[in-house]
Amino acid sequence: MYDNKLRIAIQKSGRLSKDSRKLLKNCDIKINFQKNKLISFSENMPIDVMCVRDDDIPGLVIDGIVDLGIVGRNVLEEEVLKRKFKLEKISFKILKHLDFGICRLSIGIPTEKKYCGIKCLNGLRIATSYPYILRKYFYKKNISFKLCKLNGSVEVAIRAGLADAIFDLVSTGEALVSNGLKEVKIIHNSSACIISNSKNFNLSKNNIVKTFISRINGVVKARKSKYIIFHIYSNKVKNIFKLFSECEKPIIYKLLGNDDIVSVHIISRESIFWKTMEKLKELGAKSILVFPIEKMLE
Ligand code: PRP
Ligand code: ZN
Repeated sequence: MYDNKLRIAIQKSGRLSKDSRKLLKNCDIKINFQKNKLISFSENMPIDVMCVRDDDIPGLVIDGIVDLGIVGRNVLEEEVLKRKFKLEKISFKILKHLDFGICRLSIGIPTEKKYCGIKCLNGLRIATSYPYILRKYFYKKNISFKLCKLNGSVEVAIRAGLADAIFDLVSTGEALVSNGLKEVKIIHNSSACIISNSKNFNLSKNNIVKTFISRINGVVKARKSKYIIFHIYSNKVKNIFKLFSECEKPIIYKLLGNDDIVSVHIISRESIFWKTMEKLKELGAKSILVFPIEKMLE
């Protein structure tokens, strides 16, 4: 029985945890999350969710302890490089790139210090939680550095006298600014992804994975897409289609008691900005409504 249930590891608490839970929810995977419990069960799908530290997720997937993991590419890359360095076998697959957890790994130095290119970091002490990514980059550039490995609060290392520069995750840049630092070099761009152990799943697990990924595709597509409705004189309808480079064939309804005006319904694959709506208005559209789409299955 256990073997037929799919195990997914997600981050327990941190930048990916809220979005990972939301993704499961949007895929109609109902999980009864309980505080401080390692494993939570789904009420409506043969899925168990393991809530763990994000840097444990790649290892859990690679070692086959869980089937899937939702993890940042930064954490994944670090674990892969670490295992390669130790000459360990690595096998995993990225099943899907996700549109959340967007961040970068960058070098930061004190705001008042001058930055004159990556070479000027040669021989400095650098604090980081990502030593393998840093080492790989510096090795390529033929630069040496003294490693100060920290598992958190990296941004305070300089003030604490532990390092001259940091290599850390940057998202909004707030942590850097509030610690008197500036970002001088982006080394790695990252976002969340779903990884699987590349061993073949049995048939029933494979079907759950397929359903899960197909639902995620639907959720992601739906999130980007918008349903637009407006009224327009029928002789002006043609003009507006060039505004939407990616859209389904529009549906056009006649309005009761009015032969000249029609109601146009469009599914746009792109977000609709105010600019597009203003342009629509200029081209003769009235009563423009833009709706979010919750799910989409093709
Ligand atoms: C990371 C990083 C910075 C912060 C950057 O820490 O170490 O502190 O996020 O984000 P920002 O650019 O939006 O300010 P995290 O919150 O993951 O915790 P940690 O420092 O304990 O690893
Ligand atoms: Zn931090």
